[in-house]
Amino acid sequence: MQNDDLTRLDDRLALVTGAAAGIGAGVAEALARKGARLLLVDIDADALEAEVEAIRAGGHEATGVVADVRERSSIDALTAAAAAQGMDTGLDILVNNVGDHQPWGPFAESSEEDWNAIYAVNFEHVLRVTRTFLPGMIERRSGSIINVSSVEGFRGVPHCAVYAAHKAAVLNFTAGLSTEVGQFGVRVNAIAPDVTDTPQFPLHDLIAPKYHDQIGNWVPMGRFGTPRDHGDLVAFLASDAAQWITGESIRVDGGTLASSGWFRRDERRFTNVPRDFI
Ligand SMILES: NC(=O)c1ccc[n+]([C@@H]2O[C@H](COP(=O)([O-])OP(=O)(O)OC[C@H]3O[C@@H](n4cnc5c(N)ncnc54)[C@H](O)[C@@H]3O)[C@@H](O)[C@H]2O)c1
Repeated sequence: MQNDDLTRLDDRLALVTGAAAGIGAGVAEALARKGARLLLVDIDADALEAEVEAIRAGGHEATGVVADVRERSSIDALTAAAAAQGMDTGLDILVNNVGDHQPWGPFAESSEEDWNAIYAVNFEHVLRVTRTFLPGMIERRSGSIINVSSVEGFRGVPHCAVYAAHKAAVLNFTAGLSTEVGQFGVRVNAIAPDVTDTPQFPLHDLIAPKYHDQIGNWVPMGRFGTPRDHGDLVAFLASDAAQWITGESIRVDGGTLASSGWFRRDERRFTNVPRDFI
């Protein structure tokens, strides 16, 4: 019988940026479970080595590339790693995951240096790395690009207006590019995470233990996200099972954006007014 499991990624070469920890590591592990060969890119050499070892220990193929994707020169390391896998400027799957909400604070107190830093870590590298590997995908008439945005790209967020604007840019770049390259068999999609426990957002530590029983009132699905929640979706989007999905941005947030502003008080009561008002 023909293997009709379209979710498999056997032998496909996937590059994930920011893959040593958090959502990027969850994505790398999910792609590996589906059979992809991996190039893991990260600025943190020690964490990267540990993640590459963990993936190899599971019997999968993984290579680490230490690079800072904010730097133009990082492209040399990325293309050299792809070439060593026999892919030159080609890749089957590209996941642009690096991003950070810092520096944050009141916009009235922000500087041009702050804006440039946020641009560099959230959007500029998405353009640079995509521009590097897209021609190879177009040439081979096949490829899947997944950009990691944020629910903040959909909503207003105080003290993070510039970060949120760049995450919105990632979403619109995803949509625009998808319309350009669909004709070449290349798909471009985005995921938009929220409240996921990672080194950047160690939510269980940030929220005082006395409030942990409130998590279910805040997140409709009753828990914070895990890197695996994102990894499994990215693996699906990368696969032929999603071959007619492009230009899409999928929120992976346990329902926080859908409920925006609404909180559960108990099983039957919800509120959308600040606590002190009631
Ligand atoms: N965690 C959340 O709740 C959440 C919410 C919304 C959006 N996101 C987005 O998801 C993505 C991943 O977030 P996370 O929470 O897993 O982050 P994280 O900070 O926990 O992990 C990011 C990884 O990227 C690496 N990295 C950072 N800067 C880099 C650079 N310049 N070059 C190469 N590697 C670099 C880090 O070393 C780390 O391994 C980001 O784009 C973030 O904006 C996360």
